[in-house]
Amino acid sequence: ESIIKLILKIMNEGFKEAFEKTKIAGSIAAGALDEVSKIIKPGISTVEIDKICYEFINDNKAYSAPLFYRGFPKSCCTSTNHVVCHGIPSEKILEGDIVNVDVTAFKDGWHGDTSRMFNIGEISIKAEKLIKTTYESMMKAISIVKNGIFLGDIGSTIQKHVEDQGFSVVQDFCGHGIGETFHKEPNVLHYGEKGTGEKIKTGMIFTIEPMINLGNYETKTLNDGWTAVTKDKSLSAQFEHTIGVTKDGYEIFTQSNKAS
Ligand code: MF3
Ligand code: CO
Ligand code: CO
Repeated sequence: ESIIKLILKIMNEGFKEAFEKTKIAGSIAAGALDEVSKIIKPGISTVEIDKICYEFINDNKAYSAPLFYRGFPKSCCTSTNHVVCHGIPSEKILEGDIVNVDVTAFKDGWHGDTSRMFNIGEISIKAEKLIKTTYESMMKAISIVKNGIFLGDIGSTIQKHVEDQGFSVVQDFCGHGIGETFHKEPNVLHYGEKGTGEKIKTGMIFTIEPMINLGNYETKTLNDGWTAVTKDKSLSAQFEHTIGVTKDGYEIFTQSNKAS
């Protein structure tokens, strides 16, 4: 019995370090997005957003994990309008657009990955509803996370909420385990059936990052090898949090530092 207790104690200390360090990396990533929210306005370019993320992360003695990741050239992803994910910051000026900014900080050996939508100037009511529904679907999925549920429970929660509003869930990209490596097992699908897939266990750390389209779910990747867009050119939105599974629930590691 004492050996079992000792093993449990060692396991718990392992989770504790992973959780504490992911929370530090996660708050730096969230802090970068808070900085973006302060300066984002019509006329800004997506490279200016990239610079703000790079500098904030650097000032916090962390690294931007996307920079040079598999050859990615910038510090964050900026995905505008019909771009689903992995948009590359450029001189593109924003005005009347929606944009997802996706930031990943690497600090003291651990990663925190998060993204938010921003509107620049006036956007359509449909775009607003898409963004709201995408955020709700992520938060609903997070709210059910605890030891013993299935990955399929997360996917089905998102899919149901999104499809009830008449939108579609992207299937070509998913959430992921995260920790000392940026992307690891398991794949966290944003669609699926309740009670299927891997069981979620205390101590797991992963992202939930639904990409939701106004039109069809299909995507294609542009010739730059990164930019994923909707096939039908309809708008797409995404939010992302990094979370940890606790004994009776979850902890969000990428919560905004701002009082909201
Ligand atoms: N942050 C993205 C994710 O949520 C991954 C970006 S990889 C990059 O998993 F190379 F495109 F930056
Ligand atoms: Co991610
Ligand atoms: Co991300």
